[in-house]
Amino acid sequence: MAKIALMAAAVVLAFQAAEVAAKRWTVGDNKFWNPNVNYTVWAQDKHFYLDDWLYFVYERNQYNVIEVNETNYISCNANNPIANWSRGSGRDVVHLNVTRHYYLISGNGGGCYGGMKLAVLVEKPPPSPAPAPIKNNARRRAFLVSGFAQFVIPVAVFAAIGLMWDNVVLRFW
Ligand SMILES: *[C@@H]1O[C@H](CO)[C@@H](O)[C@H](O)[C@H]1NC(C)=O
Ligand SMILES: *[C@@H]1O[C@H](CO)[C@@H](O)[C@H](O)[C@H]1NC(C)=O
Ligand SMILES: *[C@@H]1O[C@H](CO)[C@@H](O)[C@H](O)[C@H]1NC(C)=O
Ligand SMILES: *[C@@H]1O[C@H](CO)[C@@H](O)[C@H](O)[C@H]1NC(C)=O
Repeated sequence: MAKIALMAAAVVLAFQAAEVAAKRWTVGDNKFWNPNVNYTVWAQDKHFYLDDWLYFVYERNQYNVIEVNETNYISCNANNPIANWSRGSGRDVVHLNVTRHYYLISGNGGGCYGGMKLAVLVEKPPPSPAPAPIKNNARRRAFLVSGFAQFVIPVAVFAAIGLMWDNVVLRFW
């Protein structure tokens, strides 16, 4: 009985691990974090899921990455930041660890007025990767990785726990 319970627990854990396929988004793709890029357009066909990352690449002496609320996002006001994500290297990551709206602007040198403002809504990830038409390579990779996690890892865990359990049983009986 206990053996079955352990195996069931291992399978549940493996399935939960399989759901995590966090993605790192390079903001602006090959235009990075710069003026004259429309980040509303950049974000509009994307889904941002819990535990994804935003990666900002920019000229560190000119711009930054400041999180503000919606009002200050609209008006490009960086004077009341919620968070300062800039670390000084011009390469910053924002870990999207809460399901909510994030409003990020560049508060320096008029960057925000030049279009350096990004609003994203972080969603709860869907329970499993869509099995239907996979167009995008990243999603296909995530699907393959999760396939590995869902089928290969549980089998290995089964075998390992089975072996461990048999050793314990043999030692005592
Ligand atoms: C970005 O594009 C959206 C959608 O086309 C548009 O509504 C918005 O005004 C544009 N923003 C800027 C700063 O040009
Ligand atoms: C954002 O913060 C400002 C103060 O900096 C406040 O006046 C405003 O109401 C806030 N907006 C939202 C949507 O919370
Ligand atoms: C944000 O933090 C960085 C690194 O600590 C610092 O250099 C920078 O001045 C800060 N920016 C603002 C606007 O607070
Ligand atoms: C999310 O990340 C922020 C900044 O790193 C941290 O302060 C906060 O505690 C985190 N929240 C959760 C729910 O993990």
